Amino acid sequence: MHSSDDTVRCHRHLADEAATLAFGAQLAQSLTAGMTLYLEGDLGAGKTTLVRGLLRARGYAGRVKSPTYTLTEIYELPEFELYHFDLYRLHDPREWLDAGFRDIGSHAVSLIEWPDKAAGWLAEPDVIVRLAITGDTREVECVAVSPRGTCFLETMCTSCQSPNC
Ligand SMILES: Nc1ncnc2c1ncn2[C@@H]1O[C@H](COP(=O)(O)OP(=O)(O)OP(=O)(O)O)[C@@H](O)[C@H]1O
Ligand SMILES: [Mg+2]
Repeated sequence: MHSSDDTVRCHRHLADEAATLAFGAQLAQSLTAGMTLYLEGDLGAGKTTLVRGLLRARGYAGRVKSPTYTLTEIYELPEFELYHFDLYRLHDPREWLDAGFRDIGSHAVSLIEWPDKAAGWLAEPDVIVRLAITGDTREVECVAVSPRGTCFLETMCTSCQSPNC
Protein backbone atom coordinates (compact mmCIF):
# COMPACT_ATOMS: atom_id res chain seq x y z
CA MET A 1 0.00 0.00 0.00
CA HIS A 2 2.86 2.44 0.80
CA SER A 3 5.39 3.04 -1.96
CA SER A 4 9.03 3.82 -1.31
CA ASP A 5 8.42 7.59 -1.21
CA ASP A 6 5.66 7.01 1.37
CA THR A 7 2.90 8.08 -0.99
CA VAL A 8 -0.14 5.88 -0.41
CA ARG A 9 -1.19 4.05 -3.55
CA CYS A 10 -3.62 1.29 -4.35
CA HIS A 11 -3.47 -0.82 -7.51
CA ARG A 12 -6.04 -3.27 -8.79
CA HIS A 13 -6.67 -5.39 -11.89
CA LEU A 14 -10.24 -4.95 -13.13
CA ALA A 15 -11.14 -8.04 -15.15
CA ASP A 16 -14.47 -6.81 -16.48
CA GLU A 17 -17.09 -4.08 -16.18
CA ALA A 18 -18.47 -5.64 -13.00
CA ALA A 19 -15.05 -5.30 -11.38
CA THR A 20 -14.94 -1.59 -12.26
CA LEU A 21 -18.42 -1.11 -10.78
CA ALA A 22 -17.33 -2.98 -7.64
CA PHE A 23 -14.20 -0.84 -7.31
CA GLY A 24 -16.37 2.27 -7.61
CA ALA A 25 -18.51 0.87 -4.80
CA GLN A 26 -15.40 0.37 -2.69
CA LEU A 27 -14.33 3.98 -3.23
CA ALA A 28 -17.85 5.05 -2.20
CA GLN A 29 -17.49 3.53 1.25
CA SER A 30 -14.82 5.85 2.58
CA LEU A 31 -15.76 8.93 0.53
CA THR A 32 -16.53 11.95 2.68
CA ALA A 33 -18.02 15.38 2.01
CA GLY A 34 -15.60 17.90 0.52
CA MET A 35 -13.37 15.43 -1.33
CA THR A 36 -12.15 15.84 -4.91
CA LEU A 37 -11.09 12.88 -7.04
CA TYR A 38 -9.53 13.23 -10.48
CA LEU A 39 -10.40 10.37 -12.84
CA GLU A 40 -7.70 9.94 -15.50
CA GLY A 41 -7.43 7.53 -18.41
CA ASP A 42 -8.03 7.31 -22.15
CA LEU A 43 -11.41 7.38 -23.86
CA GLY A 44 -13.29 4.26 -22.79
CA ALA A 45 -10.99 3.46 -19.87
CA GLY A 46 -13.93 3.05 -17.48
CA LYS A 47 -14.11 6.39 -15.62
CA THR A 48 -17.86 6.82 -15.97
CA THR A 49 -18.43 3.14 -15.17
CA LEU A 50 -16.53 3.64 -11.91
CA VAL A 51 -18.71 6.67 -11.04
CA ARG A 52 -21.80 4.57 -11.80
CA GLY A 53 -20.66 1.91 -9.32
CA LEU A 54 -19.87 4.57 -6.73
CA LEU A 55 -23.29 6.23 -7.03
CA ARG A 56 -25.15 2.90 -6.89
CA ALA A 57 -23.28 2.02 -3.70
CA ARG A 58 -24.35 5.37 -2.24
CA GLY A 59 -27.96 4.44 -2.90
CA TYR A 60 -28.58 6.38 -6.10
CA ALA A 61 -30.96 4.23 -8.16
CA GLY A 62 -31.51 6.51 -11.17
CA ARG A 63 -29.70 6.66 -14.47
CA VAL A 64 -26.04 7.70 -14.38
CA LYS A 65 -25.37 9.52 -17.64
CA SER A 66 -21.98 10.49 -18.97
CA PRO A 67 -21.60 14.27 -18.67
CA THR A 68 -19.64 14.38 -21.96
CA TYR A 69 -21.97 16.97 -23.51
CA THR A 70 -23.39 18.64 -20.41
CA LEU A 71 -19.98 18.91 -18.62
CA THR A 72 -21.69 18.27 -15.27
CA GLU A 73 -24.22 15.92 -13.73
CA ILE A 74 -25.23 16.69 -10.15
CA TYR A 75 -26.55 14.11 -7.70
CA GLU A 76 -28.26 14.85 -4.39
CA LEU A 77 -27.12 12.05 -2.10
CA PRO A 78 -28.19 11.71 1.54
CA GLU A 79 -24.78 12.73 2.91
CA PHE A 80 -23.55 15.16 0.27
CA GLU A 81 -24.05 16.60 -3.19
CA LEU A 82 -21.92 14.87 -5.80
CA TYR A 83 -20.71 16.70 -8.91
CA HIS A 84 -19.61 14.48 -11.78
CA PHE A 85 -17.67 16.42 -14.41
CA ASP A 86 -16.40 15.37 -17.81
CA LEU A 87 -14.20 18.13 -19.22
CA TYR A 88 -13.23 16.34 -22.45
CA ARG A 89 -15.13 18.81 -24.64
CA LEU A 90 -14.19 21.87 -22.70
CA HIS A 91 -12.75 24.50 -25.04
CA ASP A 92 -12.29 27.39 -22.65
CA PRO A 93 -11.89 26.63 -18.94
CA ARG A 94 -14.21 29.56 -18.21
CA GLU A 95 -17.07 27.46 -19.65
CA TRP A 96 -16.81 25.20 -16.75
CA LEU A 97 -17.45 27.93 -14.24
CA ASP A 98 -20.77 28.38 -16.09
CA ALA A 99 -21.34 24.62 -15.92
CA GLY A 100 -21.61 24.70 -12.16
CA PHE A 101 -18.14 24.59 -10.74
CA ARG A 102 -18.50 28.06 -9.29
CA ASP A 103 -21.39 26.82 -7.13
CA ILE A 104 -19.70 23.81 -5.57
CA GLY A 105 -19.89 24.06 -1.82
CA SER A 106 -17.08 22.93 0.40
CA HIS A 107 -19.23 19.98 1.48
CA ALA A 108 -19.82 18.62 -2.00
CA VAL A 109 -17.84 15.78 -3.58
CA SER A 110 -16.32 16.35 -7.04
CA LEU A 111 -15.40 13.54 -9.43
CA ILE A 112 -13.64 15.00 -12.46
CA GLU A 113 -13.00 13.16 -15.74
CA TRP A 114 -10.36 14.76 -18.02
CA PRO A 115 -9.09 17.21 -15.37
CA ASP A 116 -6.10 18.14 -17.59
CA LYS A 117 -8.53 20.05 -19.86
CA ALA A 118 -8.91 22.68 -17.14
CA ALA A 119 -5.49 22.42 -15.57
CA GLY A 120 -4.84 25.32 -13.23
CA TRP A 121 -8.53 26.11 -12.82
CA LEU A 122 -9.52 23.16 -10.69
CA ALA A 123 -9.50 22.40 -7.00
CA GLU A 124 -6.49 20.32 -6.01
CA PRO A 125 -7.45 16.65 -5.81
CA ASP A 126 -7.29 14.44 -2.74
CA VAL A 127 -6.86 11.30 -4.84
CA ILE A 128 -5.92 10.72 -8.47
CA VAL A 129 -7.54 7.61 -9.94
CA ARG A 130 -5.78 6.39 -13.09
CA LEU A 131 -7.46 3.80 -15.30
CA ALA A 132 -5.57 2.07 -18.09
CA ILE A 133 -6.92 -0.11 -20.91
CA THR A 134 -5.15 -3.46 -21.10
CA GLY A 135 -6.77 -5.37 -23.96
CA ASP A 136 -10.22 -6.45 -22.78
CA THR A 137 -9.53 -5.56 -19.18
CA ARG A 138 -8.47 -2.54 -17.14
CA GLU A 139 -5.89 -1.62 -14.51
CA VAL A 140 -6.55 1.04 -11.90
CA GLU A 141 -4.13 2.88 -9.67
CA CYS A 142 -5.18 5.36 -6.99
CA VAL A 143 -2.64 7.81 -5.63
CA ALA A 144 -3.23 9.92 -2.52
CA VAL A 145 -2.11 13.51 -3.00
CA SER A 146 -3.44 15.19 0.17
CA PRO A 147 -3.61 14.23 3.85
CA ARG A 148 -7.33 13.57 3.45
CA GLY A 149 -6.66 11.45 0.37
CA THR A 150 -4.06 9.47 2.31
CA CYS A 151 -6.56 8.78 5.08
CA PHE A 152 -9.18 7.84 2.48
CA LEU A 153 -6.98 5.26 0.75
CA GLU A 154 -5.67 3.87 4.02
CA THR A 155 -9.21 3.37 5.29
CA MET A 156 -10.25 1.74 2.03
CA CYS A 157 -7.23 -0.53 1.80
CA THR A 158 -7.38 -1.61 5.43
CA SER A 159 -10.89 -2.86 4.88
CA CYS A 160 -10.31 -4.39 1.45
CA GLN A 161 -7.54 -6.95 2.23
CA SER A 162 -6.55 -7.06 -1.45
CA PRO A 163 -3.06 -8.52 -2.02
CA ASN A 164 -2.48 -5.72 -4.55
CA CYS A 165 -2.82 -2.93 -2.03
N1 LIG B 1 -12.71 -3.56 -16.22
C1 LIG B 1 -13.27 -3.48 -17.44
N2 LIG B 1 -12.99 -4.42 -18.38
C2 LIG B 1 -13.52 -4.32 -19.61
N3 LIG B 1 -14.39 -3.34 -20.01
C3 LIG B 1 -14.69 -2.39 -19.10
C4 LIG B 1 -14.17 -2.42 -17.78
N4 LIG B 1 -14.66 -1.34 -17.12
C5 LIG B 1 -15.44 -0.67 -17.97
N5 LIG B 1 -15.47 -1.29 -19.18
C6 LIG B 1 -16.19 -0.87 -20.40
O1 LIG B 1 -15.50 0.21 -21.00
C7 LIG B 1 -16.41 0.97 -21.77
C8 LIG B 1 -16.18 2.44 -21.58
O2 LIG B 1 -16.43 2.78 -20.23
P1 LIG B 1 -16.67 4.28 -19.75
O3 LIG B 1 -17.73 4.94 -20.55
O4 LIG B 1 -16.87 4.16 -18.29
O5 LIG B 1 -15.28 4.96 -20.09
P2 LIG B 1 -14.77 6.44 -19.81
O6 LIG B 1 -13.40 6.32 -19.28
O7 LIG B 1 -15.76 7.19 -18.99
O8 LIG B 1 -14.69 7.07 -21.28
P3 LIG B 1 -14.78 8.60 -21.74
O9 LIG B 1 -13.42 9.22 -21.57
O10 LIG B 1 -15.15 8.48 -23.20
O11 LIG B 1 -15.85 9.28 -20.93
C9 LIG B 1 -17.80 0.51 -21.37
O12 LIG B 1 -18.33 -0.28 -22.43
C10 LIG B 1 -17.58 -0.34 -20.14
O13 LIG B 1 -18.50 -1.39 -20.04
MG1 LIG C 1 -16.74 8.98 -19.23
